[in-house]
Amino acid sequence: MKLGNKNIVLTGGSSGVGLDLLRTLSSTNRIINLSRRAPPRDALPPSANIQHIETDLADEASVRTAIAQITKEKPNGIDVLINCAAVQCLPRFTDPDFDPASIAAEIAINLTSPAQIIHALLPSLRKSKQSVILNINSGLGLVPKAESAIYCATKAGLDNLSRGLRAQLAGTGVHVSQAFLPLVGTPMTTGRGSGKLSSTEAARQIISGIERGKADIDIGKVPLLRLINRISPSIANRIMQKGDS
Ligand SMILES: NC(=O)c1ccc[n+]([C@@H]2O[C@H](COP(=O)([O-])OP(=O)(O)OC[C@H]3O[C@@H](n4cnc5c(N)ncnc54)[C@H](OP(=O)(O)O)[C@@H]3O)[C@@H](O)[C@H]2O)c1
Repeated sequence: MKLGNKNIVLTGGSSGVGLDLLRTLSSTNRIINLSRRAPPRDALPPSANIQHIETDLADEASVRTAIAQITKEKPNGIDVLINCAAVQCLPRFTDPDFDPASIAAEIAINLTSPAQIIHALLPSLRKSKQSVILNINSGLGLVPKAESAIYCATKAGLDNLSRGLRAQLAGTGVHVSQAFLPLVGTPMTTGRGSGKLSSTEAARQIISGIERGKADIDIGKVPLLRLINRISPSIANRIMQKGDS
């Protein structure tokens, strides 16, 4: 699918990879962004065509309100849904600063809300002859690291959800794809890791993958991780649990 003149719904466009997706796509498409903060106007091209709907993805009622607004304003449907928003809580369960309340919120933002949004927007996506659901995933959804256990679990869940829905929606014209990112330099990874991919390059490769109709868009070191994991899951586990990703 060539991305131009499309109606796109994006979550998490206020920061990081989502902001770079917005920067690249918003001059030639019509984008509705869902996040708590509005995307910074000065980071976007003057011709950006963006509508921001303030949404808390941890709050089901807030998600429902946003979806109702989208379906009312886009009666002819939408072409692309990109689930990009996520949070990553770093503390281990054994750390004194681990907050058990973060478990439900992290699952809601990273896994429950993408499922809710996909379900609620399916009728809109099916109005387009050809449409795309793109879920932003991580190498950590394939092989977990020691920290951020809930984050890794939500990304593994997102992978299963995406593959299940891809099978459910086969033949409907709704294509389900995922982008698996390596460590990317964004506010989420400030102060940790090295050799990070830029968010601009991550966004460029995500867009190229959508346009080529790829099911899994593997970026940076992710193809190598998949290969090692296929040959020896225990080596892949050791690498991920040693590294800072
Ligand atoms: N950075 C990496 O190394 C990396 C690696 C692999 C995968 N990823 C994935 O890439 C995607 C983007 O991550 P990023 O690194 O760009 O992160 P980021 O810069 O921290 O941005 C996260 C986005 O999620 C939104 N968000 C967080 N909580 C929210 C809530 N309760 N309600 C609504 N929106 C919420 C934020 O918007 P508000 O704060 O304005 O609400 C923000 O726009 C995520 O899916 C992440 O898992 C990132």
